[in-house]
Amino acid sequence: SARVTLRRLDEMKAAREPIVMVTAYDFATARLADRAGVDMVLVGDSGAQVVLGHDSTAEVTVEEMLVLAAAVRRGVSAAFVVVDLPFGSTELSDAQAVETAVRFVKEAGADAVKIEGGGAARLSRIRAIADAGIVVVAHVGLTPQTAVALGGLRAQGRSEASAERFAREALAVQDAGASLLVIEAVPADVVDVVLPAVAIPVIGIGAGAADGQVLVAHDLLGITEGKTAVFVERFAAVGDAIHAGFAAYADAVRSGAFPAAEHGYRAPAEAVAAAAR
Ligand code: KIV
Ligand code: NA
Repeated sequence: SARVTLRRLDEMKAAREPIVMVTAYDFATARLADRAGVDMVLVGDSGAQVVLGHDSTAEVTVEEMLVLAAAVRRGVSAAFVVVDLPFGSTELSDAQAVETAVRFVKEAGADAVKIEGGGAARLSRIRAIADAGIVVVAHVGLTPQTAVALGGLRAQGRSEASAERFAREALAVQDAGASLLVIEAVPADVVDVVLPAVAIPVIGIGAGAADGQVLVAHDLLGITEGKTAVFVERFAAVGDAIHAGFAAYADAVRSGAFPAAEHGYRAPAEAVAAAAR
């Protein structure tokens, strides 16, 4: 299918065609998502947790994200590829943020970069990256990189002050030059009163219907173990399938059922004889 462009995403918003976005962190999964027809693939810094085993997204490095992003890029032919700018790679200055964003475009082939937050310094970063000609996806509401400062991984926009901040930031990131907006963990009622003023496509996660949805692949595929956020729905039981596959393999090796003759190579009798000499 045709490559998804920013223009196509704008058209989808205008036509009220829901935009489908999912995370991926490796070649094989990205290719499966692309072939399934998702519109956007996000190389999320959630990879810090779901593929690298860290406790928070803040622990993943630019170098690690570059490896994941380049692998995803190689697996995607149609979807629009967005890469998260990890914590620490944009905080020092606009110049640092532009330098990081340029690396994800040049070294990993990102179509866009995503940056969390909508405070004054964040707006300056968004403006600087957009001015460099790189498509910026903003991310407001719950911003996991700075969740400690937000009081933990909890929904935003549930107090007057928090709802006011959310509304202000959602509009400000658009004015600063963001081309797309991710809203995470904000009550739909609060999102709904702000959306009419947002012209760019809005992708929600725990934020109501918006123009599209994003979920972490491991969550929606049923690979993530234990408790997941309220906004997660499991659409498959891939974790169970992987477990069953490994267990069946282990059983077959231990019982001698694997390998069978058909899993091996054959040699002519002369080669066997030569090996025995
Ligand atoms: O890193 C991530 O997976 C994300 C999505 C949840 C939006 O930022
Ligand atoms: Na993220």
